[in-house]
Amino acid sequence: MEISGNTVLITGGSMGIGYALAETFLEAKNEVIICGRREKRLREAQEKHPDLHIKVCDVAEETDRTELLKWIAANFSALNILINNAGVQRDIDFTKGIAEYLAGENEIKINLEAPIILSGLFIPSLTGKKEAAIINVSSGLGFVPAARMPVYSATKAGLHAFSMALRHQLLKSGIKVFEVVPPAVDTELNPEGRAKRGNFKVDLKPKEFVESVMKDLKNDIFEIGYGMSEGFLKASRADLDKSFQQMNSRW
Ligand SMILES: NC(=O)c1ccc[n+]([C@@H]2O[C@H](COP(=O)([O-])OP(=O)(O)OC[C@H]3O[C@@H](n4cnc5c(N)ncnc54)[C@H](OP(=O)(O)O)[C@@H]3O)[C@@H](O)[C@H]2O)c1
Repeated sequence: MEISGNTVLITGGSMGIGYALAETFLEAKNEVIICGRREKRLREAQEKHPDLHIKVCDVAEETDRTELLKWIAANFSALNILINNAGVQRDIDFTKGIAEYLAGENEIKINLEAPIILSGLFIPSLTGKKEAAIINVSSGLGFVPAARMPVYSATKAGLHAFSMALRHQLLKSGIKVFEVVPPAVDTELNPEGRAKRGNFKVDLKPKEFVESVMKDLKNDIFEIGYGMSEGFLKASRADLDKSFQQMNSRW
């Protein structure tokens, strides 16, 4: 795809991978809009990059999603790229029953339902636009699930399946569907889980990861991995099972 001259909406663009995508698309001369739930974090991003456009939006809320669609139509009718990046991650222990699952944020609504519905909402206005694309940010854990994050892993496996199916459905529409599959990246995702594990770092900054993603987008690589997740994309079922055992030996 052409990585300049687009109008790009990035959900969850105030920090982490979404913010690195926003910075990089701005540097590549695109109009960039970011959304997120916390206005303060959006404003902090805009202070660093005054060209960024911001919109408070909880992608899990139907009213916020339809308001976002209307606001984009009124203010950025040239929008040709939707990046479904917003996501949350939780450790959930099902040996205790359902209580932990019910007590926290709804990963299914945020990570899976929201990208599906936003894609559906935006497809009519993306159709016919030059260089139109939907870019879904899934995870290596959609290919090799983490036992301590069972629902998160399931949402990302679902987003992978949805991205494949949508890519096929939209072949003739001119809308390209990409899936970005990050490995572990040092961000603020799952702060409680990270704290439990001593806030370890994997030494991969969002910007470094995104620079590699941009090269693959430019080359129309539709499933984009990096490091370990790139390995998962090419692995056999036996390799994936081996990685699962290694990753989950001490869950
Ligand atoms: N970091 C990793 O190791 C890693 C690995 C694989 C995949 N990923 C995926 O990469 C994506 C970005 O994650 P990240 O690591 O950059 O996380 P992050 O640093 O926690 O950033 C998440 C972003 O999403 C926004 N967000 C969360 N829930 C939202 C909602 N309901 N509505 C709108 N915005 C929402 C957050 O802003 P607010 O909280 O203010 O809404 C924030 O801007 C996620 O889909 C994640 O699953 C990350």
